[in-house]
Amino acid sequence: MSVQTKIYEGKAKILYTTDDPEILLADFKDDATAFNAQKRGSIEGKGNINCSISSKLFQQLEAQGIKTHYIDSPAPNQMRVKALKILPLEVVVRNIAAGSLCQQTGLALGTVLKQPLVEFYYKNDQLGDPLLTRDRLFLMGLATVEQVDMITHLALQINKSLGEFFQQCDITLVDFKLEFGLDSQQQLLLADEISPDTCRLWDNAQGSDPNLRVLDKDRFRRDLGNVENAYQEVLQRVIKTVESN
Ligand code: TMP
Ligand code: ASP
Repeated sequence: MSVQTKIYEGKAKILYTTDDPEILLADFKDDATAFNAQKRGSIEGKGNINCSISSKLFQQLEAQGIKTHYIDSPAPNQMRVKALKILPLEVVVRNIAAGSLCQQTGLALGTVLKQPLVEFYYKNDQLGDPLLTRDRLFLMGLATVEQVDMITHLALQINKSLGEFFQQCDITLVDFKLEFGLDSQQQLLLADEISPDTCRLWDNAQGSDPNLRVLDKDRFRRDLGNVENAYQEVLQRVIKTVESN
């Protein structure tokens, strides 16, 4: 498989075409950004770690019948994926209040939600990825009613599956962000990545200090230190859990 042209560079990944028009190569970067790229840095080894974690999680989901863009991982920081038309939506699922939910509602950090909350954000850096209402989403033609219903159903299924998997890793899945895309047959597939960049993950084994529990990008966002160790810890636990299943 020969790598061809770079078609997209995002904050965490670069996408290249391949000699097969149905397949793209995603190159995971060590670069880290937060707050709509106002904060920039690098997390050593992040590209390899996030690609490995995402690959394992996509394989877990596929084994449970959830269709993803994942094909395989030819190198530690590279993933071959199906070429999709990505919907400009960031789909966030929350189990526990944290981050922008606390900032925008006043709910206390750590409040366990009675049921998972599925939210849609407009994936648009210039506008700062604003939270959408259902009506605004349709007004802007970002997805059809059927697609939104399907995405909501899939997001909840993925939440259940990932939540159970991370519990086996002794980690609580607080919240996470998903992206979806359409293939050439207009089939909806899970895309992007699932990693400590896109999830909030709290260590069950560190009960006392809430900051010690953080195993995700909040360590970078909030300058909590030990960012690389946290990402590495998640990977080790994911590998151990996959091997034990
Ligand atoms: P939030 O609380 O900042 O809205 O984030 C919710 C979840 O979405 C959290 O797990 C982090 C993830 N996320 C991304 O993956 N990309 C983003 O740009 C943002 C803002 C959040
Ligand atoms: N990825 C986002 C950015 O840099 C923000 C975040 O993950 O907090 O814009």
